[in-house]
Amino acid sequence: MQVRTDSASSPAPRKPQVPRHVAIIMDGNGRWARKRGLPRLAGHKVGVERIQKVLETLGPRGVEYVTLFAFSTENWNRPSEEVQGIMALLHEALERQTKSLHEKNVRVVHLGKVDRLSPDLREGVAHAQRLTIHNTGITLNVAFDYGGRDEILEAVRRIIREGVLPEVVDEALFSRYLYTAHSPDPDLIIRTGGELRISNFLLWQSAYSEYYHTPTLWPDLDAAELERALEAFGRRQRRFGTVAKEE
Ligand code: FPP
Repeated sequence: MQVRTDSASSPAPRKPQVPRHVAIIMDGNGRWARKRGLPRLAGHKVGVERIQKVLETLGPRGVEYVTLFAFSTENWNRPSEEVQGIMALLHEALERQTKSLHEKNVRVVHLGKVDRLSPDLREGVAHAQRLTIHNTGITLNVAFDYGGRDEILEAVRRIIREGVLPEVVDEALFSRYLYTAHSPDPDLIIRTGGELRISNFLLWQSAYSEYYHTPTLWPDLDAAELERALEAFGRRQRRFGTVAKEE
């Protein structure tokens, strides 16, 4: 594991902290396309290509989990042509990239609802998860038909349905009922496209996440910008509600 825990007695120079889990709100595909006089879907298409590059940058830096917000529970309200286009892009990406992700030892996990996906897409998602379940490299969580509030409600429903006693419901138990049960909470949340909102993303899990916002549109996010995000994270002092540590 690459997470650095500096101890006061250690003679080694302090290395910048690496976030174990980076979650990204990939915003700005539509604007990227509009600026070029292209249909919005062209922006989403280039956006999908960007994912590989992001993994290639974050993996070697020691990041163990990457979560991408690809389609929200609210995105169904977009024009149906765009919704269908994004569904097709996910399908295509699964068909084209599952094998190579598996060869790179990436574990793919879907976060979100499956019941509104087409049977084909559902099968593609299930196949990618089954194939990569034992992989030990980076975990790629793809939030697709995902909403933070919906996730919390689903967890509550399951807890009630299973007859869990109220006295035993604590934070650790609740976390195990979320789509992210297999992942630590995100250390760093990056949002591209200049907006300063959380947009129903990882509401429970982001309680102590650090945020990095950039006006860069998702299709333009490059290794240098990611390095800036990691550097900014390295300079943050995380206190988790306590007081600052004396240097
Ligand atoms: C935000 O840009 C982007 C989305 C809502 C969808 C992101 C989807 C992909 C990158 C493709 C599908 C994902 C996978 C994993 C295959 P926006 O459209 O809101 O941009 P705008 O704010 O400029 O309009």
